Amino acid sequence: MDRIRIRGGNRLNGTIPISGAKNAALPLMIVSLLSPGTLTLSNVPRLADVRLLQRILQNHGIDITVAGKRAGQTGMGDVMHLSAKDIVDTTAPYDLVSRMRASFWVLGPLLARCGEAKVSLPGGCAIGTRPVDMHLMAMEKLGATIEIENGYVIASAKKGLKGAHIVFDKVTVGATHAALMAAVLANGDTIIENAASEPEIGDVAECLVKMGARIEGIHTSTLRIKGVTSLKGAEHSVIPDRIETGTYAMCAGMAGGDVLLKDANANHLGAVIDVMQRAGVDVEVRNDGLRIHRNGAALEPVRVDTEPFPGFPTDCQAQLMAMMTMANGTSIIRETIFENRFMHVQELARLGSDIHLHGDTAEVRGVKKLTGAPVMATDLRASVSLVIAGLAAAGETMISRVYHLDRGFETLEEKLSNCGADVARISG
Ligand code: UD1
Repeated sequence: MDRIRIRGGNRLNGTIPISGAKNAALPLMIVSLLSPGTLTLSNVPRLADVRLLQRILQNHGIDITVAGKRAGQTGMGDVMHLSAKDIVDTTAPYDLVSRMRASFWVLGPLLARCGEAKVSLPGGCAIGTRPVDMHLMAMEKLGATIEIENGYVIASAKKGLKGAHIVFDKVTVGATHAALMAAVLANGDTIIENAASEPEIGDVAECLVKMGARIEGIHTSTLRIKGVTSLKGAEHSVIPDRIETGTYAMCAGMAGGDVLLKDANANHLGAVIDVMQRAGVDVEVRNDGLRIHRNGAALEPVRVDTEPFPGFPTDCQAQLMAMMTMANGTSIIRETIFENRFMHVQELARLGSDIHLHGDTAEVRGVKKLTGAPVMATDLRASVSLVIAGLAAAGETMISRVYHLDRGFETLEEKLSNCGADVARISG
């Protein structure tokens, strides 16, 4: 199994191109189930999760092709064509769904298009229990009958879905995606209240509109949908990854230096930019991306709660904690979205950090020095927090189980080493 070796201490200087957002690309690929036409997605990140979802969708009967390189092509990411002319199988099996939680989201579109779906209960990152009750509530409101049998959700709506008033008691990205994707083909009007307003949901909604869906309130917490009978193909470019952007911003904040995060969208990163600035890192919003700059001055401690968008994202919590391990004082970081999302703490301790957990809150006491050590990646975002700490730790940090990283970060070692970091993948 591959490992990542980091020799800490180098500043980062240069440009890091930001890839398409994993959390937008996955639901956009799933949207292709809704139409017999061809959906062409560009700026699709080259990630293990994308490849896995490709297999899951192919199993339902979707033809997927990824275009080869074109002359003069400078942008990153793949161009992917997805055609769901005939859905031949409405079952999403355990061996595929258990490896990635987002694949559970096929439930809504399969129900909407075919009137039935059998989808294994999900797996994915081990960051809390992560139930699917709100997904099922939304499908039932839209008129589906649901049974759970042998670890599978068996859903049926033989006469089609019908518009409904769906109110989520808690903000949920996944169930908002599922409800939206199902409602666009339901018979009648749907209102989704307390919808998640993460930019990735807006991106999916905009793609659905290009396909002929009728949606109002995009980018807000109330979505109003008028069902249509069919959707057509469309072309859509995936938005830049705000979590990857926040991650490299924190890499530069931790290591020091001057880095341009090319193509980053500052509008999606307000809370992250605010926290970086409070920590004493210079952030400049430019037309071509975000410039992150820190020269010598110590990092200042911060107090942050994770929150649904536009608040500080839970997917950047581990990275922020790594950056704060060397701040000039004590930071307080509270995780309000997921329980059990502190698995990085014990690995960061191996590098010499001083972190104390009190329930959902981490007290991060800044230390003067971290030292390299062998550490283990535990989940996607936790694993990249170890990279951030390793960039500033003296000596060598060796991260094992990097398949977690490969799920969500495209060519991480190349992007960092192009800016002067000593980061290498050790194969085998
Ligand atoms: C998505 C993101 C993930 C991010 C998370 C929160 C993707 C592929 N994944 O995950 O990276 O960390 O949003 O921003 O986009 N919940 C329930 N019942 C449900 C559904 C969710 O109780 O039916 C709870 C969850 O356990 C969690 C909270 O709601 O405590 C938010 O989860 P949700 O927003 O649904 O996360 P995901 O969609 O799984």
